[in-house]
Amino acid sequence: MRDATPQTVYLKDYTPPEYLIDSVELNFDLDEQNTLVESRLCMRRNPQSTDPGMSLILAGEDLELVNISLDGKPLAEADFAITPEAMTLHRVPQDRPFVVNIENRINPKANTALEGLYLSGSMLCTQCEAQGFRKITWFLDRPDVMTRFKTTLTADKSQYPVLLSNGNKIGQGELEHNRHWVGWEDPFAKPCYLFALVAGQLACVADNFTTMSGRQIALEIFVEQHNVDKCTHAMQSLKNAMRWDEETYGLEYDLDLYMIVAVDHFNMGAMENKGLNVFNTKFVLARPDTATDSDYEHIEGVIGHEYFHNWSGNRITCRDWFQLSLKEGFTVFRDQQFTGDRTSAAVKRIEDVNALRTRQFAEDAGPLAHPIRPEAYIEINNFYTLTVYEKGAEVVRMLHTLLGAAGFRKGCDLYFARHDGQAVTCEDFINAMEAANGVELNQFRRWYSQAGTPVLTVSQQFDTQAQQLRLTMQQSCPPTPNQPEKAPLHIPVKLGLLAPDGSPAPIVLDGRQHEEITLNLTQSEQTFVFDKLARQPVVSLLRGFSAPVNLNMPRSLEELAFLLQHDSDTFNRWEAGQQLAVKVIFDLIEDLHQQRPLHLNALVVKAFNGLLAEEGDDLSYQALLLALPDESYLAGQMPVIDVDAIHHAREFVKTTLAHDLLDDFERVYRIHHRDESGKFSADAIGRRRLKNACLSYLNQLESGASYALAKAQFEQARNMTDQIAALSAIVNSHHPDKAECLDRFYQQWQREALVIDKWFALQASSHMPDTFATVQRLMQHPAFDMHTPNRVRALIGAFSQANPLHFHAKNGEGYRFLADQVLALNTLNPQIASRMVTGLAQWRRYDGKRQELMKQQLHRIVATEALSKDVYEIASKSLA
Ligand code: PHE
Ligand code: ZN
Repeated sequence: MRDATPQTVYLKDYTPPEYLIDSVELNFDLDEQNTLVESRLCMRRNPQSTDPGMSLILAGEDLELVNISLDGKPLAEADFAITPEAMTLHRVPQDRPFVVNIENRINPKANTALEGLYLSGSMLCTQCEAQGFRKITWFLDRPDVMTRFKTTLTADKSQYPVLLSNGNKIGQGELEHNRHWVGWEDPFAKPCYLFALVAGQLACVADNFTTMSGRQIALEIFVEQHNVDKCTHAMQSLKNAMRWDEETYGLEYDLDLYMIVAVDHFNMGAMENKGLNVFNTKFVLARPDTATDSDYEHIEGVIGHEYFHNWSGNRITCRDWFQLSLKEGFTVFRDQQFTGDRTSAAVKRIEDVNALRTRQFAEDAGPLAHPIRPEAYIEINNFYTLTVYEKGAEVVRMLHTLLGAAGFRKGCDLYFARHDGQAVTCEDFINAMEAANGVELNQFRRWYSQAGTPVLTVSQQFDTQAQQLRLTMQQSCPPTPNQPEKAPLHIPVKLGLLAPDGSPAPIVLDGRQHEEITLNLTQSEQTFVFDKLARQPVVSLLRGFSAPVNLNMPRSLEELAFLLQHDSDTFNRWEAGQQLAVKVIFDLIEDLHQQRPLHLNALVVKAFNGLLAEEGDDLSYQALLLALPDESYLAGQMPVIDVDAIHHAREFVKTTLAHDLLDDFERVYRIHHRDESGKFSADAIGRRRLKNACLSYLNQLESGASYALAKAQFEQARNMTDQIAALSAIVNSHHPDKAECLDRFYQQWQREALVIDKWFALQASSHMPDTFATVQRLMQHPAFDMHTPNRVRALIGAFSQANPLHFHAKNGEGYRFLADQVLALNTLNPQIASRMVTGLAQWRRYDGKRQELMKQQLHRIVATEALSKDVYEIASKSLA
């Protein structure tokens, strides 16, 4: 909990550690409420440190000291001091190595923050990133202190038959009183944030993998007994990831054993602890009847992500937490590539950009904006953000674009070769890219230090006589907290030209001809002149979303419809459709504001008609082409967000399309509606996706036929994708059987926590008028539990982050509700509490009345006593 003024930590204050830990031996005597930790630290002064002090400061929180000795001699009271955050040993040897022995007690059951050693169900597990290890024992808890760990776990044999830690198992044995022990040793030095232990009654699903050099790796997934039938996909995903990293990056796994444990209680998605990943069950468990196609995709993506961290994160780690994007941005980029290769690259790119633009762009435009390499923090846990992860991945992607796949790979090879076993910085990563490619990336470095989403404004001029197209690009970047002025960035702009018949037009720039080109925009304003154009081409700009910017380029509806039909770049083709819809929806919003009757532009109906008639082979892509932009994406484009108008205009477009193209939606639905449960080919997934897109349109009609369709699909579905899509349609309508279906779904799945999460989230994000009452009622439901992050996210998170219409209710009830829950969570789980505050952070974007109501709740939060650092930082910065 917070002391008077929370301290800010600055990147500029970084100094090397004063001491090093050459090795550590840990002994855990495990017990739910009374775990004894013995730690033997072999230490010495760091020759690199310039600090002249004689004392040693070890971080530690919520620990009860039992014993402490230095070089075998117990320390007297006067030899050390303990504060709530640290222990200082006043005098330690400076000229030779020394050994510190510590014994302390902890209470895992009381640990509801889920950081350090805690209880998930009946299982004991740890979460140490970023600074959880200090809640286990006193230590140099910083990523640039890398140590070899040897760990012995002792526990009751019946309650904790499985005892796991990092590395290789080096021994085990029986003890009296039905106790046993297991010893582990990790041969790779690592920072303590990568330490893990797990103890419990766990079933093991085992397999193996032969690496490119012929080594056999044992693969083990540990889950509770009732989940052993849901691990096949996770195991296959792991093998796919291991192979992919060998083929794509030449990186091979290094230990003989790779373990994954799935736990119900987890603050994040998963954690890359060396050789012993701990996962949120959400990203492991899947069976066709319990998990959707998108769950399957996310599982493979997250398994890949944590696996890829073994090199980008573990073998080479971060010097300090300001460098978080070094491992996270890079690893997200790697998992995006992996999923793109495994599924549809076009679809994956669109999904990623969509998420980036709706969520990260909002963060980057608000009071919590920060560079991908932040300069200051109060609580590091608040910086596991969309900016560090998702924008960080975009920055790595731009390097890939600028250097080309081969150049990027050369840079990665050099980075891994230079820094293996080290804790390094983002600067080291760029340096390796430069050195391996003989290029200079000085201006590019600004992406690491500058926050905010740049705006790219483009104008064109065609000269028929000269057969020339002049493209002028201007870049600017709005001010962000502490960064009023911005310098121009190096922005790669991928471009194609289309001839009036839709075929590619040649790109002639400076006498050279290209089919597609990446322009280097480096100045505030730059003009590019394209020659030899007999007729004015249509410009396809920022192909593949080649840079994380807001593109501002005036386009007519006709031009957008043309690009939607002809652009060969799959991203830009989709984007043209989105922009077409955005334009039309904003015109309708204007009509609503002027109280004019609403009419849907015939061009949109025609475009959708064309999309529905298409017989392409990427059906998932086709489904994306049919999806209207999200309400939150539309909100991001509006100077003052009007949630009601956005909702009504968008619903009007959807309903009108359903009306006018009823036959087409029905036809496409019928063509693709078949039972392929258990099939996960791109085709089968695409069919489900396209069919369910049609269902969602047809559902707008609120007709006997649409009700019957949804109900039939709900009843017949044998896979979760179809079942939840049908239930979602039912929940988002006045379907007469809504209550019955919700109840049946609950009865059917009450033993599957992850499916019940969907049940909560679906109701919390419904746009039907009684949603807030439903949310309040669900808070009292016996299956709701504030101690389970997945449940909190499913109900409170879904309502406050995925239901703009009702969360932003004019009377402020949504805001008050959220603040109530934040305060309740604050004492239980500060990390989750602080994630929930973000729903209020964007208050400046709303009308005056809503602004006041949101601010009121933020003030109420900030004024609360015993506020965690986590919540304090987000709430106070939101108000600043
Ligand atoms: N490092 C984890 C990842 O792979 C995320 C995480 C951070 C998990 C902090 C738990 C705690 O992205
Ligand atoms: Zn990660």
